[in-house]
Amino acid sequence: MAYRSLVFGAFASGSLAVSVVTPRDPVPPGFVAAPYYPAPHGGWVSSWAEAYSKAEALVSQMTLAEKANITSGIGIFMGEPCVGNTGSAERLGFPRMCLQDSALGVSSADNVTAFPAGITTGATFDKKLIYARGVAIGEEHRGKGTNVYLGPSVGPLGRKPLGGRNWEGFGSDPVLQAKAAALTIKGVQEQGIIATIKHLIGNEQEMYRMYNPFQPGYSANIADDRTLHELYLWPFAESVHVGVGSAMTAYNAVNGSACSQHSYLINGILKDELGFQGFVMSDWLSHISGVDSALAGLDMNMPGDTNIPLFGFSNWHYELSRSVLNGSVPLDRLNDMVTRIVATWYKFGQDKDHPRPNFSSNTRDRDGLLYPAALFSPKGQVNWFVNVQADHYLVAREVAQDAITLLKNNGSFLPLATSRSLHVFGTAAQVNPDGPNACLNRACNKGTLGMGWGSGVADYPYLDDPISAIRKRVPGVKFFNTDGFPWFHPTPSPDDVAIVFITSDAGENSFTVEGNNGDRNSAKLAAWHNGDELVRKAAEKYSSVIVVAQTVGPLDLESWVDNPAVKGVLFQHLPGQEAGESLANVLFGDVSPSGHLPYSITKRANDFPDSIANLRGFAFGQVQDTYSEGLYIDYRWLNKKKIKPRFAFGHGLSYTSFSFDASVESVTELSLVPPPRAPKGSTPVYSTELPPASEAYWPTEFKRIWRYLYSWLNKNDADKAYAVGIAGVKKYNYPAGYSTVQKPGPAAGGGEGGNPALWDVAFRVPVTVKNTGTKFSGRASVQAYIQYPEGIPYDTPIVQLRDFEKTQVLAPGETQTVTIELTRKDLSVWDVELQNWVVPGFDGKRYTIWIGEASDKLFTACYTDTGVCEGGKTPPV
Ligand code: BGC
Repeated sequence: MAYRSLVFGAFASGSLAVSVVTPRDPVPPGFVAAPYYPAPHGGWVSSWAEAYSKAEALVSQMTLAEKANITSGIGIFMGEPCVGNTGSAERLGFPRMCLQDSALGVSSADNVTAFPAGITTGATFDKKLIYARGVAIGEEHRGKGTNVYLGPSVGPLGRKPLGGRNWEGFGSDPVLQAKAAALTIKGVQEQGIIATIKHLIGNEQEMYRMYNPFQPGYSANIADDRTLHELYLWPFAESVHVGVGSAMTAYNAVNGSACSQHSYLINGILKDELGFQGFVMSDWLSHISGVDSALAGLDMNMPGDTNIPLFGFSNWHYELSRSVLNGSVPLDRLNDMVTRIVATWYKFGQDKDHPRPNFSSNTRDRDGLLYPAALFSPKGQVNWFVNVQADHYLVAREVAQDAITLLKNNGSFLPLATSRSLHVFGTAAQVNPDGPNACLNRACNKGTLGMGWGSGVADYPYLDDPISAIRKRVPGVKFFNTDGFPWFHPTPSPDDVAIVFITSDAGENSFTVEGNNGDRNSAKLAAWHNGDELVRKAAEKYSSVIVVAQTVGPLDLESWVDNPAVKGVLFQHLPGQEAGESLANVLFGDVSPSGHLPYSITKRANDFPDSIANLRGFAFGQVQDTYSEGLYIDYRWLNKKKIKPRFAFGHGLSYTSFSFDASVESVTELSLVPPPRAPKGSTPVYSTELPPASEAYWPTEFKRIWRYLYSWLNKNDADKAYAVGIAGVKKYNYPAGYSTVQKPGPAAGGGEGGNPALWDVAFRVPVTVKNTGTKFSGRASVQAYIQYPEGIPYDTPIVQLRDFEKTQVLAPGETQTVTIELTRKDLSVWDVELQNWVVPGFDGKRYTIWIGEASDKLFTACYTDTGVCEGGKTPPV
């Protein structure tokens, strides 16, 4: 079975059947967004059965207007406290739901913890810490009264080093993203908060991401559905597997069709193949159609407005009521949308004592406008200043500390003795003198860089900056609070050590910072504020320079990294509020560094092909971003092309050294494809009778708030729509492939995330790690990469990360055994013809499981055919 590039969708079978949902610009030939209808009903997975039966009981009592009301936000800045607020069905006890950013904590609120960003969390390669951070984030959201946490983010995956929002996610590898997202979701949802996996899918750059009346968002043309499954979808699938309650679509299009109304992605992939049981929301202001998005499987429109907000218009709300009455949107679809939302609310126990929001995203004052966007609005108390921080600074600090990645340490120069004479350079060593929250949504790069900018941020309660922590240990430290090397600088003594802080920032393209409109598009991979020059100048004068980088992603280090005066290079990534002690603990050797790079750092930008290295620039019509590199991003590409990076994915040094001793156990025998899936279980059943028009009439004497979004219609409009609906005149121009008959679901499905057998453990690899050093304690990262058998009919990357574990702190000579697990899915490839996961070596062919500390430091090979592990080997890269 040869690997072939097949366009999305088996049912397309190579034909170019295009779903004509809305008119759009043509994408390159061969890229197809195939139709998939109808939207699969939720509720057929047994672990959700109870929640769905409660939802069925509630939804069957709702009027049409109540149903439409809870599928949409009430309008942007409409004053309810959160960044997104649904309508309610108060009569039946279903409240407005509060949806709040960000992936790294509670955004736009006081008395919260500013946790390290996703990219920092990924760099810990530490499952326990990732989970603990998730628990703490969930507790804070609960304390503030959130229903839905708008995180974690796994899209962007990190395909483009310049991509503006990579730092919100966990690193440029699907397995790292997947495991970190799943643990975050688990931690958050155990606190009764619904997590949101976002952004589905292909939001790999910020520029041209959004639809506006003049230009569509760019089209991520994902070359084939093997790339979709093995890279971009993988973290979403794992998130669904752990029961994530909601999903957010991306701003951009995929293969020409906007993600918020992409029937193939939402109905086909997410809801049918992955068996997603929660609800799907649009990203903010990306809702561009009423009927089409409903048919394509969207369940919630956020924040409720059309994509030009603040005119009091919505594509749903009153329009959804109308569309159901006139028969364009089947009542069955609306019922499923609402049931998914209500069931998710029940599933996480939010019907019992769930706190109401006690903060306002719009102001930090006690009193504020109740409906700011209404202009004429009553005032009232909007903030209760509830402190939800508890002792979360501890987990925040541990993540920041254990993420610190030591890239270079010549002659074991680090750690530093506190008796050294230290000279610190760079404004990033100290908190922004205007205050850590001086810039709205952190849209500036001034002082210590603890997070990127945009919606994915939180307010700092304080920022423990590096210079304060260094001063505590070395009171005589000299601090040059400048990004330009001082004009006149006395010649340092050979014992003086310069510590130079540099930064690189990025964010969401709702803001432009120093010429970067989200992505790092102007400064490329250079350090900001001429940081590279500062390092070079310091290295001219000082014989010992330590570089500390606070950065959203990879940097071009080439102009100084080989300079012999540059003794050490540390990446703090984006440390959040705990930027000081975490760093000082590592610099001065209280702990050994144990972070590892969640992406590769190349020597030249063009070590990656153009499709990855560059952003897609302006084009008339729809900007096309074609994933011609397929599976080959980051280390997968570099290995294939035998390009040696400066520092490879997974790289990270310690003050000590480790040895690994592994063995391999076969656990579950595999077949070519997973055993046949079980049929879907039953789903709620409702009356199919068209509701009376009166269910959508405005209540009498209702006092409307200007620009607030409602689901009611004028009597005349409702009656008119009902007359059309009851006559059964099909007037809507349904897309090709439209159907209302529920499908049994694809063979690859069968449970949350896909066929449950995909998670059968095939091999277990216990790895005994020993601290072989004599001076320092430290934590080892154990990374497991798979190499597929030779001679199989699939082109596979040479090695691919499949699991990782981290030891506790090991004293010199101490050992610990950690266990790596490889599932059926880990050994599979997505077969585009069978449309299923296939184990190409199921009949005893040799897979090699490479165990080591980095993608380029893999010395132990475990062979699945013989069960033998051998040290002293190197993979064929
Ligand atoms: C972002 C989302 C975010 C939402 C709400 C959008 O601009 O893309 O990630 O959750 O805003 O703030």
